[in-house]
Amino acid sequence: MDGREHSTHRNLVAPAFRGRELAEKFVPVIDQNSRALVDAFRGDGHVDLVDRYATRFPINVIVDMLGLPKSDHEHFHRWYSSIMAFLSNLAGDEQVTAQGLRTKEEFEAYMLPIIRQRREAPGDDLLSTLCTAEIDGVRMTDEEIKAFCSLLLTAGGETTDKAIASVMRNLVEHPDQLQAVREDRSLISAAFAETLRYSPPVHMIMRQPAEPVRLSGGVVEEAGKTLTCLIGAANRDPERFRDPDTFDIHRDDLELDRAYTAGANHTAFALGRHFCVGALLARTELETGIAHLLDAMHDIRFADGAPPPEHGVFTRAPAELRLTFTPAS
Ligand code: HEM
Repeated sequence: MDGREHSTHRNLVAPAFRGRELAEKFVPVIDQNSRALVDAFRGDGHVDLVDRYATRFPINVIVDMLGLPKSDHEHFHRWYSSIMAFLSNLAGDEQVTAQGLRTKEEFEAYMLPIIRQRREAPGDDLLSTLCTAEIDGVRMTDEEIKAFCSLLLTAGGETTDKAIASVMRNLVEHPDQLQAVREDRSLISAAFAETLRYSPPVHMIMRQPAEPVRLSGGVVEEAGKTLTCLIGAANRDPERFRDPDTFDIHRDDLELDRAYTAGANHTAFALGRHFCVGALLARTELETGIAHLLDAMHDIRFADGAPPPEHGVFTRAPAELRLTFTPAS
């Protein structure tokens, strides 16, 4: 979307993701969802953080923000995993494709009756906002609302999921920095910002230029063609960042006060009009979640003795993060 169509749709959900609405209504939702997940493994002394926490926490938050039943969290984890596999199925595995298409049907069959109910009896949730909103005097169709919900689940789920896994991986790989964050929790924000620069969840975004794009003296793309912008590579530009391949939460060339705004000097949330609408929600989720994890887990180590590899081209993070730890008393 572009122009007015884009801005009116964006403005429907933006208030929920910032300022008072985020602080008053959704911070408790974020806190409670994170605690429930951590409580389920805090006594175990070992965990795959991707499976037990990262792939669940942001999805559960969006499900609750939309006002969908908590008892369906497990369904959403299954649907989410299947959609993610479908979206990253560059090799074209037929089973993954078939499962993804089945999920689309299941999700539709689940959402459409709820959307109809919410139109008749709206509540104080994000789905009701979408059901009752008028854009230029016209309400969105049931199909459009369903698509909007699946956009929120993927845009707000996979990204934050991967961010949590990468922040924890980067910190455990650098025990001195992990210790600094443990002692001063205000450094979580810096650890997240540096992770966004060093190992961002989203590595590329696509654009179709309206006119030929000139960069560095050459035409890099003609109008109407698809341009893939490697935002992950931009974050390692040695002209912008000293020792760009070094993870350092104390670096002074990453502007922390603007790291979660459209004026950021990293590119992990993109820039301009499509700058991530959920950046502050993600920050709140990370600050809450990483603090809970550090509170519950002491002496954190990689279960295999070494950091797990990253996976993915479009989006990227460890596929699993198996850790051992001493349970906090
Ligand atoms: C660490 C976490 C996150 C990262 C790295 C991230 C990254 C991005 C990027 C790169 C874009 C630009 C895409 C493009 O222009 O092609 C974007 C847009 C978007 N993000 Fe996020 N995101 C994160 C968290 C979230 C969360 C929690 C939500 C909330 C549900 C969210 C919702 C969206 C939406 C709706 C857009 C489209 C905005 C527009 O086109 O105006 N994101 N995000």
